[in-house]
Order: sequence, then C-alpha cells, then structure tokens
Amino acid sequence: MDDLKQKYLSRIADAADEAALEDIRLAAVGKKGEVALKMRELGKMSPEERQTAGPALNALKDEINSALAAKKMALADAALDERLRGEWLDVTLPGRSRPAGTIHPISQVTEEVTAIFADMGFSVAEGPQIDTDWYNFDALNIPGHHPARAEMDTFYMHRAEGDNRPPHVLRTHTSPVQIRHMEKHGAPCRIIAPGRVYRADYDQTHTPMFNQVEGLAIDKDISMANLKWVLEEFFAAFFEVDGIKTRFRASHFPFTEPSAEVDIQCSWEDGQLRIGEGDGWLEVLGSGMVHPKVLRAANVDPEVWQGFAFGMGIDRIAMLKYGIPDLRAFFDSDLRWLRHYGFASLDVPTLHGGLSR
Ligand code: PHE
Repeated sequence: MDDLKQKYLSRIADAADEAALEDIRLAAVGKKGEVALKMRELGKMSPEERQTAGPALNALKDEINSALAAKKMALADAALDERLRGEWLDVTLPGRSRPAGTIHPISQVTEEVTAIFADMGFSVAEGPQIDTDWYNFDALNIPGHHPARAEMDTFYMHRAEGDNRPPHVLRTHTSPVQIRHMEKHGAPCRIIAPGRVYRADYDQTHTPMFNQVEGLAIDKDISMANLKWVLEEFFAAFFEVDGIKTRFRASHFPFTEPSAEVDIQCSWEDGQLRIGEGDGWLEVLGSGMVHPKVLRAANVDPEVWQGFAFGMGIDRIAMLKYGIPDLRAFFDSDLRWLRHYGFASLDVPTLHGGLSR
C-alpha cells in the first residue's frame, strides 16, 4: 500500500497539466482505479485484516484526492501567472491616435479671406443659393436676352406646368447678394459675401459647384482707387507677399461700369508657380464700379451713392496659395492630398486656421 501511495503522489507531483492530473485520478481513485481494486480485495480478507486494511485504504484514497486537489490549484495558479506575464500592459506607452476630422481647405480659405476683409471694415452678408432669376440676372442689368445668361451655364429649377412662381436658378455668382443687401440695408455699406455658386461646367479648373466671395463698398465718394487699394491690401495679406503687384485689365460686366478684370503678379519656374514675383500674370477676379442701374434696382439713389464691387473665386485663390493643380481635388474623399499640399495646420481641427502645430 505504501508503494501505491509513493507511486501516485510522485506522479501527481510531476503532472504537467490538468489533463494529466485527470488521467492519474482515474488510474488511482477512479471506479476502476487501483485503489478501488484493492477495496474489492477486502471481501476476501479475514475480519481482522479487514479492520486495518479498510481504514488504511480509505486514508490512502483521501490522501490521493487531496494531493490531486492541491496540485490542481497549483497548476491553475501557474497558468494564471503565465497569462499575466504574457499579457502585461505597458501603461506608459503613448496612446494610439485616431485620424481626426479636419477643416476643409475651402472653409479655411474662406475664413482667412473673411478675417482680412474684416480688418478693413467689411462685414459678412449672405444670400440664398437658390434665387430668382431677377436677383441673379435682371437686377444686375442682365436682361432676358443677354448673352451672359447663356455664358453662365445656368442651372434652372424645374417648374411644374401651371406653376407661376418666378423662375428660380442655382445662383451663378454671389452678385445677387449685392442687391439683397442694399435692398435691406441701403447705403452706405461695406460687405463681403462668400458662398457657393453653380454652373454647368466640369474640367480641371471648373466644377459645377464652386465658391466665390463678393465684395461691395458703397458710399458717397468711393472710387476705383479705393478698389485697387483694398484688393492690393488683400492680396498682400492673403498671399503673404508685401507689395504684390496687380494689373487691372479693362473688361465688361453688365453690372459694373467701368469694369476690370484683375490679375496678380506671378512667375512660373520649373513648373513651380510663385505668387508676387516675376513678370507673369494670373487672373483672379472681376470687378468694377457698380452700375447705376444696379443701384436703382436695389433702391439706392445713384445720384447720391456710388461704389465698387468685385467677385473672386475662392477655390481659385486656394489653389494658388496652396499649389493645388486640380480643382476636383476639393471634392476628393481621400484627403491625404491635403497634407501633401502643405495644409499642415489642418492636422488640428480648428475654426481659426490654427497654427497650433
Ligand atoms: N459676378 C462676376 C462673375 O461671377 C464677378 C464680378 C462681381 C464682376 C462683381 C464684377 C463685379 O464672373
């Protein structure tokens, strides 16, 4: 019996895992295990022998069972230790950063523009993106037959038959905001009106929706010289080039007289565009002195008031400032190009073009 005890206790001590332990349990104290076989032999013994062998066998069974339980606990503890060692966490490691949203470059540039004009006393005005053809055209001295209506590739809103409301269009420019603002607030005024405009046009430099910023300054003695100064101040601040040169080319818009298209100085070297140097020119906006008919359409007396207006493409100047070659990039869902084009400040979402990096 001592042999049995030695054999099983040492096997239990050596068991590597719970499965091995179970095998040992079955072999030793299971129904058909060695201890059970010995118990069966009790029947053949004399009562005296039985009296000592019986309790001894029971004690052996108990001893093996408690050795098994102890070993089982020890194995579980060891397994837990092992797991804890394998799954340790270094809580001092920096966290995994998730990609955060960023402000869209058009929004950022709109803000930059707004801030610069605000410094010159311009406040922001707004108008609807769906407007009547009166605000978009007629009030701006573009009558029904005028070729400008066709040139602007206008999107017209669908009208059901018998619907007699005036025709509505997706505004083709921000100029209707001039009319809406003067109608409501009269003169004098000094506003810019940034916003979306729509034309049926699509290629590398045109998208059906794009952004403009309108400028309007009306007072008793506003001249083209004021227009030139304001624009040059703006370009110097926006492109961060002191003394940037502008070129005013005589042009025609129905709503301004005289009218001028404005170019800014630039150079092209090794395919690199540089704003504010060299002897090249880039067109950036249309402008002029507000036509008396436009003032009258907005109930402002052209005998008393006069002023300038301009309309500038926001996407255009964003492309120029940040060197983005294809306007369609603004609509790309993959925004990695933002970083490629140096919108580093956009790594941190902010409403103020934050230089927090
Ligand atoms: N509305 C004109 C355009 O979209 C730009 C412009 C605005 C020109 C104001 C002159 C004055 O092309």
